[in-house]
Amino acid sequence: AAAVSRRRVLAATGIAGVAGLAAAGGAVARDAFAQDAAPAADAVAFRGAHQAGIVTAAQDRLHFAAFDVVTRDRDHLVALLRQWTAAAARMTAGQAAGGSGAVGGPAQAPPEDTGEALDLPPAQLTLTVGFGASLFRDAAGRDRFGIAAHLPPALAPLPHFPGDQLRPELSGGDLCVQACANDPQVAVHAIRNLARIGFGTVSLRWSQLGFGRTSATTRAQSTPRNLMGFKDGTANLRAEDGALLEEQLWVQPGDGPQWLAGGTYLVSRKIKMLVETWDRTSLAEQEAIFGRTKGSGAPLTGRDEFDRPDFAATGADGRPVIAPEAHVRLAHPDQHGGARMLRRGYHFVDGSDGLGRMDAGLFFLAFQRDPRRQFVPVQRALARSDVLNEYIRHVGSAVFACPPGVRDAGDHWGRTLFG
Ligand code: HEM
Repeated sequence: AAAVSRRRVLAATGIAGVAGLAAAGGAVARDAFAQDAAPAADAVAFRGAHQAGIVTAAQDRLHFAAFDVVTRDRDHLVALLRQWTAAAARMTAGQAAGGSGAVGGPAQAPPEDTGEALDLPPAQLTLTVGFGASLFRDAAGRDRFGIAAHLPPALAPLPHFPGDQLRPELSGGDLCVQACANDPQVAVHAIRNLARIGFGTVSLRWSQLGFGRTSATTRAQSTPRNLMGFKDGTANLRAEDGALLEEQLWVQPGDGPQWLAGGTYLVSRKIKMLVETWDRTSLAEQEAIFGRTKGSGAPLTGRDEFDRPDFAATGADGRPVIAPEAHVRLAHPDQHGGARMLRRGYHFVDGSDGLGRMDAGLFFLAFQRDPRRQFVPVQRALARSDVLNEYIRHVGSAVFACPPGVRDAGDHWGRTLFG
């Protein structure tokens, strides 16, 4: 049904090259009408109290985009957010993007969908929006769109961490859209069409393709492995965590600006892995670095993946079995007043560096109720002592406030902020 819906739009625009589809004709179009109302089998609901793409079972593919707003006109920005919302609702249902294109209009105008997802199902596409601090105030501190008073204190810039090698062209952004799907073409199509609709109002600042989820976000999902070969996401927050999600993930009404209640904060970090160095490191050393075994993912003090690490246990030599500088010890909630995050990252391989090394790593994405209490202290501890640091470099960084979900057909991204 979804594929048919996308096709119908192109058929209506009469694009050359899909003449066959158009000719398949009336029957196809009628089917589409009959089925448009019913959600496709592999569609994720776009509307709800929270945005989709956060506790949604992590899909396999990512296209993440950060945009800068290039207009000074608040009305243009709000109009774009409305258009984006409508396009997102359609695309996540497997339909054409729509927007300012040519459906029903002159055939000389560009079509209102770029077309490459024409035959593809929704593939569990989710589109999740976030607002960066720079949307509220520019570098000179000026209120850009009359929303500076609503800047959440928790959206403060991250501090510099030891070892950071952040590149401005891979960092920051006024807006972000996280597109996740089980088909890379569906995720890329979604970002491309939002960028197309936003032409003249926003410009793409940086973007990242990702594959192979590096976490599990529901109990039904098995734990995947990261590019270092370790199970990643074992101790993650999950959709089923109920009250814990209110405590650790969702911004609560009393937390800060009311517009963000039911939303969350997203920290993105592009982390390169020095995979060639890693691959020459012994298995024992690799396991000591994480504090977990590579095969089962069990803590070095346990047998099964989900056994609780015993940080007090010592070996025959009297030293802790899980080293003081092991990643899971430093990142563990016990070290940070119980702070947890919902990690939802992806691998990246952006080709190679011309010197025989893969340009690969982890595009780390973590959702949380307050980065000042969660990401920042954990990353501070990791940056200071984690033995993993020898094998990784943080090269990109951004923080976004992700508003609550779009509730109904009259609602749109940013409504609670812009009114
Ligand atoms: C746990 C890998 C960066 C926070 C883990 C685990 C692995 C891992 C294999 C154990 C399994 C699990 O519970 O998920 C990596 C790699 C990284 C990286 C390869 C960089 C390339 C980070 C960063 C943070 C972070 C930047 C946050 C600042 C955590 C947390 C846990 C964890 C909170 C769970 C600890 C626990 O509750 O036991 N990571 N990680 N990681 N990591 Fe990372």
